Amino acid sequence: MKKYLLALFCLIGTLTAAAGETVGVSMPSKVLPRWTHDGENLKAALEKDGFKVRLLFGVNNNVSNQVNDVENMIDAGCRVLVIAPIDGLAFTEVLRKAEAHNPPIPVIAYDRMIMNTAAVAYYASFDSTQVGAMQAQFIKEKLDLDNAAGPFNLEIFTGDAGDPNVELLFNGAMSVLKPYLDAGKLRILSGQREREQCYTKGWLSEAAQARLEGLISSVGYGRSEKLDAVLCQNDTVANGVTDALLAGGYHAANFPLITGQDCDTLSVVNMRHGLQAMSVFKDTRALAAQVALAVKALVAGETPVSATTYNNGQKTVPAQWCDAVPVTPDKIDAVLVKSGYYQPADVAGDAKQ
Ligand code: GAL
Repeated sequence: MKKYLLALFCLIGTLTAAAGETVGVSMPSKVLPRWTHDGENLKAALEKDGFKVRLLFGVNNNVSNQVNDVENMIDAGCRVLVIAPIDGLAFTEVLRKAEAHNPPIPVIAYDRMIMNTAAVAYYASFDSTQVGAMQAQFIKEKLDLDNAAGPFNLEIFTGDAGDPNVELLFNGAMSVLKPYLDAGKLRILSGQREREQCYTKGWLSEAAQARLEGLISSVGYGRSEKLDAVLCQNDTVANGVTDALLAGGYHAANFPLITGQDCDTLSVVNMRHGLQAMSVFKDTRALAAQVALAVKALVAGETPVSATTYNNGQKTVPAQWCDAVPVTPDKIDAVLVKSGYYQPADVAGDAKQ
């Protein structure tokens, strides 16, 4: 009985701490499917804890729109801000207002770090360096780079220049691939080997598609040259690469190995049909739960759980990583369907071909 009463008091305590408080949540885009899941999962988790939630999404990759949204959230008196920035470098100025607010408004960096500001109280994400290494490790193993004669041809497609995760993903991938590139076992025939040469504006499929179509014609992939692998940093980029290959006459049987990240439904369907070789699952439910806990702790004046730290150029921020899991076609059911993340029908569609 005592136990139940205690639990009841705790619950009432949490609800009163949260009652009437609004959390501002700013997500980067609705065009990329994962952020809709992120936003909805986080909103549901926070509402369950008794918070009100003001959830806004960026539009057309417009950085100043997102900065304005955040400024409005500060002016409206949001108690905590949760931000996944389009551009990690764009919030230094506006977050001075959050720091100057009375009481100061704590900011949580969601999945992507917010750079150069001491306003960030907490960072919850996945280990992007490890994710980049997973993508590269997959290519290394599938091409059997240690044993096969090669050389093999690779192209690299990163994400948006403003996203701090891009550099982490790139460095993680290079930690695995560089020795093979240096030894000539892996070649990048476009010559575009630096991160800056491989960006995909806004992580948009169309941008990735246009770049690969250019390379197909300039390098001669599919005609004079074989393309063995395309390292794509996420699924929307992978989808554009897949579309360029299909338009260029490729089909499942001669498809290069394509990596991805996020396990978007379109990519899962493509994996089922041999049009993408792997993706990395970042469970947005786990991230939302982690962030909801941090919001509760910050509102209660406590320190959120953090197993690590991350320096954003201005401050060493307490940070927590969730687990990222590589998914290949044989793992789709076990990782994505049995866990309830997707219903079987969500990932049962026909591929484009
Ligand atoms: C990155 C994130 C990826 C992917 C991408 C596009 O910051 O690490 O998981 O979602 O953004 O939105």
